Amino acid sequence: ASGCKIGPSILNSDLANLGAECLRMLDSGADYLHLDVMDGVRFCLSCRHFVPNITFGHPVVESLRKQLGQDPFFDMHMMVSRPEQWVKPMAVAGANQYTFHLEATENPGALIKDIRENGMKVGLAIKPGTTVEYLAPWANQIDMALVMTVEPGFGGQKFMEDMMPKVHWLRTQFPSLDIEVDGGVGPDTIHKCAEAGANMIVSGSAIMRSEDPRSVINLLRNVCSE
Ligand code: DX5
Ligand code: ZN
Repeated sequence: ASGCKIGPSILNSDLANLGAECLRMLDSGADYLHLDVMDGVRFCLSCRHFVPNITFGHPVVESLRKQLGQDPFFDMHMMVSRPEQWVKPMAVAGANQYTFHLEATENPGALIKDIRENGMKVGLAIKPGTTVEYLAPWANQIDMALVMTVEPGFGGQKFMEDMMPKVHWLRTQFPSLDIEVDGGVGPDTIHKCAEAGANMIVSGSAIMRSEDPRSVINLLRNVCSE
């Protein structure tokens, strides 16, 4: 895809120095920041929490916005149940895009409307087990589709190549839609994502664990934009 954007996921960064880590990514050429919000539960499978991990919420986003200024684009990846409840707080905190999971809401249409009314862009995510047909009816109302390439919850997992047909199908059906991939994406897997048609590339551990994040970001962008 032409004009690919690279959004580091700071999930696997030094979270005690989150602001500095975000700055390090922006200084290394990141096009945007992908911020993973999780409402985790480990032992209560019947509770409707979304993923088995906990990260941070809107107060942290507010602090990041203060520290980083108005420019950086915050893509909020909301891996939470009842994503309706955080739209306003995230908008007030300074989020630019609210990416929610189709599996987590019963009324995507109302949520899309609410996100827009709060001045944010709309991202719609699907987990590996969700087929792309469920996303399609909403595709004309959203800014970005996120095709998860791991089960959401943790950084550093293995890329699921069998998700690429979803990306390809979306690219064919909706040529101008932004399509994001997230999970296990790095120098070894970017070719597959690019070939399928993704143009917003989330990469966590591959960038975070590198001694030279700038070169990894450049490589991902170059391969993707070829
Ligand atoms: C996983 C998160 C991802 C994760 C990506 O649930 O949504 O954003 O941090 O990290 P890597 O690139 O290490 O798979
Ligand atoms: Zn994510």
